[in-house]
This record gives sequence, C-alpha cells and structure tokens, in this order.
Amino acid sequence: MSPAPLGCEVVITRSGAPAMRDRATGELMHPVVGPQVEAERLYVSPARLTERLTERTADPLVVFDVGLGAGSNAIAAWRVAQAMPTAPRRLELVSFERDLSALGLALEPEHATAFGLGGTAGDAARALLATHRHDCARCSWRLIVGELPGAFAGLAHGSADVVFWDPFSPRANPELWTVAAFSALRPLCREGATLHTYSGATATRTALLLAGFWVGWGATTESGKQTTQAATRARDLDRPLDRGFIDRLGRSSAPFPADAPADALCRIRALPQFC
Ligand SMILES: C[S@@+](CC[C@H](N)C(=O)[O-])C[C@H]1O[C@@H](n2cnc3c(N)ncnc32)[C@H](O)[C@@H]1O
Repeated sequence: MSPAPLGCEVVITRSGAPAMRDRATGELMHPVVGPQVEAERLYVSPARLTERLTERTADPLVVFDVGLGAGSNAIAAWRVAQAMPTAPRRLELVSFERDLSALGLALEPEHATAFGLGGTAGDAARALLATHRHDCARCSWRLIVGELPGAFAGLAHGSADVVFWDPFSPRANPELWTVAAFSALRPLCREGATLHTYSGATATRTALLLAGFWVGWGATTESGKQTTQAATRARDLDRPLDRGFIDRLGRSSAPFPADAPADALCRIRALPQFC
C-alpha cells in the first residue's frame, strides 16, 4: 500500500505573510512576501494581462497556469478580468495540477482571505475544485488534473498566449525544468506567447532556449532575485539575454539541465538570439 499523501500546511513567512508549505518536499509556495504580492509581481504584472485583455480580437486570452497549487497566480489573473470596466477579450484560464490539497486548504474559512479566495473569487475556486470548470461573464477557468508534462498531451497546438510556470524547484520537480518539458509546452504556445517563471537559474534559461524559446530576464523578486521571461518572438521580451550570457555559461557550475544534448553550447551559440 502506498503511503497517504502528506498534504500541505499554512505557515507564516519571515515577512509575516501566510504561505502554503508542501509537507512532502518542504517547499513553500510564494515564499517571503506571500501569495498575493508575488502573484502580482512575478506573473500578472509582467504578463501585461490588463493590456492584452483590451486588444481588439475575437480570440480569448489563454493563460496556462502550470502548478495551480493554492490558486494564487490563477486567482490574481481571474481578478484582472473581473476588474475590467467593459467586456473586452475573454480570459481563458487553464490550470494544471496533480494534487488539489493546497487549493482545498487555502479555501478553508480561516485561510481563504489571506490567499485571496474570499467572496466571489472563493466561489469560483470552489466550483473549479468541485467540477474542474468555472465560467462567468469575463472568464472561463478549467482544471486539468494530472502529471505534467504528460498532461500537455492532446492539447491544441498554438493555444496558449501566456504561461505561468510555477512548479516547485528543480530539486523537488526535476521533470518540469528539462528541455523535454519545455519542448512539450513550446508547440502549445501561440505566436506572441510569453512565459513567466520565478526561476532565474542558468539551467532553466538554457532549457528554454534549447526548447525553442527566446529568453530574457524577468521581474525581480522582493528579495532582489532575478526571474526569467521567455517568448516565442524576440520583440515580446523586455530584456533579452545577450552574448554576455553565453560567456558566463562557461563559468556556471550548472549551465544545462540533465537532459541537454551533448552539443548544447554549440546549439545555443548558433541561435538567432545570440548571432
Ligand atoms: C509552487 S507550487 C504552485 C503555486 C501556485 N502557482 C500558486 O499560485 O499557489 C507548485 C505546484 O506544482 C504542482 N506540481 C509539481 N509537480 C507537478 C507535476 N509533475 N505535475 C502536475 N503538477 C505538479 C505541485 O503539486 C504544486 O501544487
């Protein structure tokens, strides 16, 4: 018999914000500043959701929320759509998760407000948890339960406009920081798509480059750490990595993910981003 899942607990970070801790890995979701500030700073704001939701197109804005966790990134995006004064482009949120215990705990009455899940936001998240789908005038929200990256299989190519890539660290989730994982995601991204992740690791950046993304520096965390932004087009990066990145690769102690090809450095050097 396999052991029962350990689930999650709510802890208070050193800044005083509540955060969800996964008991099995010991990892915190949105450490230091807490879920609401970090979701806005690292994901929603760099992805320019408000601006993109006002674009004149009949297509919905599709956001892949990779690692739903306690729902903080997803609900921050959901709130942007709810706050739009008119009914512009619809938001389509697609959340991916293998373990729904963090969202269940965040929805408990004593935690819901701290996790941004009070009121109608909580109603939407509860519906998602119960039926794996929630629809309202501005937004549809779908939950795909399963193990990534396999759970990407069968999804329509060219469908995602924005990706929030928020698994645990490579130590806890090695399978999601590989060339293989980003290569499985890349065809699902539409022209003009952007990806946002808290990781600023060199190996994350080279995995994204090897999977066919353009890669740049992302937002800076509250504690001054660099994050990463990737895109299907160069012009959608705020600050693309430059040739200095290639020079520094030689000095990095962990330049590539475990599944990088033997000629990874040559391949990256030859990318149009660095020529
Ligand atoms: C850092 S937490 C996500 C936090 C979340 N984005 C939020 O805003 O609350 C990472 C999540 O990824 C999920 N996860 C990790 N590996 C996974 C895998 N291989 N497939 C699906 N989900 C996975 C974990 O269960 C966990 O909930």
